[in-house]
Amino acid sequence: MEQQIGFIGGGQMAEALIRGIIASGLYQEKDILVAEPNDQRREHLEQTYSVKTYPSNVPIFENCRVVILAVKPQTMKALLEDCRERVQSQHIIISIAAGLPISFYTKMIGKSETKIIRVMPNTPALVLEGASALSRNTNVSDAELSIAEEIFLAVGEVVLLDEVHLDAVTGLSGSGPAYVFSFVEALIDAGVKSGLTRVISEKLALQTVSGSIKLLRESGEHPAALRGKVTSPGGTAITALHVLEKVGFHGIIMDIVESAVIRSKQLGEME
Ligand SMILES: NC(=O)c1ccc[n+]([C@@H]2O[C@H](COP(=O)([O-])OP(=O)(O)OC[C@H]3O[C@@H](n4cnc5c(N)ncnc54)[C@H](OP(=O)(O)O)[C@@H]3O)[C@@H](O)[C@H]2O)c1
Repeated sequence: MEQQIGFIGGGQMAEALIRGIIASGLYQEKDILVAEPNDQRREHLEQTYSVKTYPSNVPIFENCRVVILAVKPQTMKALLEDCRERVQSQHIIISIAAGLPISFYTKMIGKSETKIIRVMPNTPALVLEGASALSRNTNVSDAELSIAEEIFLAVGEVVLLDEVHLDAVTGLSGSGPAYVFSFVEALIDAGVKSGLTRVISEKLALQTVSGSIKLLRESGEHPAALRGKVTSPGGTAITALHVLEKVGFHGIIMDIVESAVIRSKQLGEME
C-alpha cells in the first residue's frame, strides 16, 4: 500500500499528474492505479502510460495510501457517499476539485481522523507548467504533506498555504490562465488590426509573452524595472503605456482578480 498511488477519476487533470509523476520518476507505472468508469479513457491510460486501471474505486482504497480525487466538483458528493466506508485513517486523501472546502470532505466522509489535502491547481498543469497551492487539515503531518508537494512539483510550481488563502489563489493562479489567454487573444487581434496576418501576429504575440516571462525569471528583476528598460524617451513603448495607464490597467487587473476571489468565496459558502 505504501508505494502505490491511486487516482479516482482518469480525466485531463489525472492524466497530466500521471504524466508528470512518471516523467519525474516519483512513481513507477506499475504503482499507479486509476479508477475510471469510461472504458475508452481506461484503455487510453493503460496503453499510453502502462498504469493499472479499474472501473471501480475499491482497488484504489485497498492498495493505495495516497488517493487523489480527480473528479468534477459536481460529482464529488456522489463519489464520497459511495466510498466513505472505504476511507481509513492511514489514507492521505488529496482532492483537486475546485471550490470545495476541506470541511466538505470531513463532513461527507464523517470520520474526524481522515487526512485531507486540498489542492488548487491550474490548467497549465496539463503541459507540466502548473501553479498549485496545497492546504491540509490538522491530521496531515509535515511528512505526509511533503508527499503531496512532490506529486504537484512534478506538474509545475507549488506553494503551501492555509486554506483561508485558497480563494485568493483561485482568483490569481486558478483563474489566471483565462486572463492571460484573453490578453494574448487581444494582442493577436491588435496585430491583425495593424495589418499583420493572423498567423504572423499569433507567432509574434505568443513568443513576446513567453519570452518576456523567461526574461523576468532569468533576470530576477522586478517587472517595473524591465518595463523601464524598454521605454526609450519619446518612444513607442512609453506612448502605448500612457494609453494603458489612462484606462487604469493596474486597477482593472486588481479588480478582475478581486472579483474572482469574491466569487470563489461565494461558491465555497454554497457547499
Ligand atoms: N482541467 C483543469 O485544468 C483543472 C484545473 C484546476 C482544477 N481542476 C479540477 O480537477 C478535477 C478534474 O478535472 P478534469 O478536467 O480532469 O475533469 P475530467 O476530464 O472530466 O475528468 C474527470 C473524470 O472522472 C471520471 N469520473 C466521474 N465520476 C467518477 C467516479 N465516481 N469514480 C471514478 N471516476 C469518475 C469522469 O468520467 P466520466 O466522464 O465518464 O464522467 C472523468 O473521466 C475537477 O474537480 C476540476 O475542478 C481541473
